[in-house]
Amino acid sequence: MKKRIFRPPQSGTVYTPEPLALAIVRAVGVNDSASWLEPCIGNGALVKALHAFKVSEKNILAMDLEKRVGLYDEMASTRRGVDFLVWSAKTTKRFDRVVANPPYVSLRSLPIRLQRRAAQVLDPQGNTLSLRSNYWVCFLLSATRLLKPGGNIAFILPASFEFANYSKIIRDWLPNVFDSIEIHRCHESLFPEASDGCVVLLGFSYHTYSKPGSWKYQSYSRKTQFLFGLNNRTQSGQGAPDPNNEINHNRVLLKDVIDIRLGGVTGDTSYFLLTEIERKRLRLPIAAVKPVVTKSVHLTSSVLTDSEWQLLRTSGARVWLFSPPPRLIRSRYVWSYILNAGKTCNKFSYKVSNRHPWYKTPLPRGVHGFFSGMSRHGPWISFREKTGLNATNTLFVVRFRDCLSPKWQAAWALGLLTTKVREQFAFNARRYPDGLIKWEPRDLKDVVVPRPVSNTKADELYKKAIRALLKGRVDEAKIIADAFFGESQMIRNVDIPYSKLGTFSS
Ligand SMILES: C[S@@+](CC[C@H](N)C(=O)[O-])C[C@H]1O[C@@H](n2cnc3c(N)ncnc32)[C@H](O)[C@@H]1O
Repeated sequence: MKKRIFRPPQSGTVYTPEPLALAIVRAVGVNDSASWLEPCIGNGALVKALHAFKVSEKNILAMDLEKRVGLYDEMASTRRGVDFLVWSAKTTKRFDRVVANPPYVSLRSLPIRLQRRAAQVLDPQGNTLSLRSNYWVCFLLSATRLLKPGGNIAFILPASFEFANYSKIIRDWLPNVFDSIEIHRCHESLFPEASDGCVVLLGFSYHTYSKPGSWKYQSYSRKTQFLFGLNNRTQSGQGAPDPNNEINHNRVLLKDVIDIRLGGVTGDTSYFLLTEIERKRLRLPIAAVKPVVTKSVHLTSSVLTDSEWQLLRTSGARVWLFSPPPRLIRSRYVWSYILNAGKTCNKFSYKVSNRHPWYKTPLPRGVHGFFSGMSRHGPWISFREKTGLNATNTLFVVRFRDCLSPKWQAAWALGLLTTKVREQFAFNARRYPDGLIKWEPRDLKDVVVPRPVSNTKADELYKKAIRALLKGRVDEAKIIADAFFGESQMIRNVDIPYSKLGTFSS
């Protein structure tokens, strides 16, 4: 007879984003000799994070009901096709650390065979679980019981941990079996596939006897703050620092430092954007066009000087925006281009038809630099040195809120290259199914950035860091930035190229 294969419940399968996996491993505490359990490895986000922290694969036991081999299976002793709940009931192994993002599925919705196995897990009072309970409850109970005394646990749980009736028994039990419990609650969704927020549960120093421990709770409205809180919690289990306090002293929100806006929206790029050859062919005077950058590849250095832009101009890039001043409207060639627009310009497009005059694209003012939301190197600022240079809406423009010297601006811009800030960027990235990675201005505004205390050599260092970044030497750029802010390089060797992030949640 053909053996039946039990597939994991797909509705509960949402993979952990990499920055969250790194934050959780850091929070639960890494040491050389600890043994680790990952009870449902999935595509390996948590195991990959452990590898990044140099935890040997010999010290990690991972498993999953899913038989298909994963990309990072070799970073642990991985067993596939194993039901963790069955295995945990039989094993005599015990672990120093458990990290998990278990499936979230109501027991009632599980395939009957898995449901029966789940029903064998007993609650802290020795009773079977109700079918109204959830699969994650079984994972949490079973995994906690596999801890060695003194062991720590980190679980990613649904927001219902906080309010569901079925989780009350867990909420009451946990502080009695750990010296300290921390709940980090994020109200914003952390997973591209899910709309709800979630909870990270941390338990420190497990004991098999019942003794009341401490319980700390930290709530964050935005995922950037949540990640910041997890990454910066004090190691003694004192709970995460209040990000707002921290923000006031040496960190601030990016939106309080710079204003990021879209470049000018032409409404019809084929009419309004011109190369130098096209401009000459149309005999449009220089005064009838404005210099612009229009693509992320145009951001070629830390500072866009006139000579950088001239290189783009001679290379055939579309670097002119048709934008004649009133005095030139009636000049021969400008007028002819305007008259011919009926054939070449989509004057009915919403943006064009709604402005007066239709041929004047409004451009942002007070531009200090440019940003690309689609750079494979992540967000960074290319400063504007060329007078009058602007950007169209494939790029963002940056304006510092305070009147700062170029050196201070460079000091702030260096902050965007630090390890902690890049982690937040990675966390906030929009990953599209086709692998495209993108940031919108609103994804960046709540990123927490370090406040520079000096601007000594900031411009030189920024140049050096951006040169390294653009050559793909991300670690070098981060080392320069971290050193400038006196920050340690905890995970400098594991920066995930942003271009690879898209593959992670697939
Ligand atoms: C939410 S995903 C998380 C995967 C991974 N830990 C992560 O953080 O990205 C849950 C995983 O649990 C696995 N799973 C479901 N039921 C299981 C069971 N009874 N035993 C072991 N793994 C199971 C699924 O195959 C899936 O890979």
